[in-house]
Amino acid sequence: MKLGLLKALYIDTLVPFYSRSEAENIFYIVLQHLDKKSKIDVLLGAETFLIESYQAILEELIQGKPVQYLTQIAPFYNLELYVNPSVLIPRPETEQLVHLILEENRGTAKNVLDIGTGSGCIALALKKAWEEATITACDISEEALEVARKNAKDLDIEVDFYQTDILKNEIEAYDIIVSNPPYIGLSEKANMHKNVIENEPHIALFVSDNDPLLFYKRILQLAEKQRATCYFETSEFYRTSLDTWLIESGYSFEWKEDFQGKDRILKVIW
Ligand SMILES: C[S@@+](CC[C@H](N)C(=O)[O-])C[C@H]1O[C@@H](n2cnc3c(N)ncnc32)[C@H](O)[C@@H]1O
Repeated sequence: MKLGLLKALYIDTLVPFYSRSEAENIFYIVLQHLDKKSKIDVLLGAETFLIESYQAILEELIQGKPVQYLTQIAPFYNLELYVNPSVLIPRPETEQLVHLILEENRGTAKNVLDIGTGSGCIALALKKAWEEATITACDISEEALEVARKNAKDLDIEVDFYQTDILKNEIEAYDIIVSNPPYIGLSEKANMHKNVIENEPHIALFVSDNDPLLFYKRILQLAEKQRATCYFETSEFYRTSLDTWLIESGYSFEWKEDFQGKDRILKVIW
């Protein structure tokens, strides 16, 4: 089948579930994955002989499965990461968190801890671009750690991973702590995309409505003892409540905007 025709079929089928540009993007991800081809091949009128594989993936996409779990690949900060449903699919906002840490620290020898590492995306991207750093990463989920370790091995990047429940256990001393912790209140579930709720791990996403700031409070408590600079990803919905709590607690902090101009990166210093 001609790739142009296949592209039209993908877009027509996916448009009820995704925007047109998302549907087009998804098609190109699948094209690269199955045929190792790109936009230019479509324009040049190339064909595929793997129509059954394309159809099988399309069926799963209609069921709401994220394309990254189907191809098992997620691009992140110049890395190609392996992902499966045990880990959150790395998001572009998180690349900005990595970028900021690198801009502010690259070239210095620092000890860094990534809390709630998931696929290992933050820890691995930091180490890849910042040789002098010693990077450790932890997660409560053994399944997630398996994915992170596989990524480290496949990409030949040196990061030390370990399992812990950060809400219960202490940590060693670090210069920098980075975390994109679970921060979505259970009450926000109703407003979220079905694909995310039904496919991504809930332990990575949700935190109790009783205290959505739980992870930030706990991590800052651990960081305070050792005066580790903290970099967090958060939701703009918690900007006000985090501000209030940080000021009341006497912390020095600053917000950094993401590419949509939202305050999603929080830096706490001592
Ligand atoms: C929002 S995900 C972030 C994953 C990855 N760092 C990223 O940015 O894509 C949060 C991670 O925290 C982990 N986590 C949840 N509760 C935890 C706990 N009590 N202790 C340590 N890690 C925890 C989850 O398993 C998940 O991998």
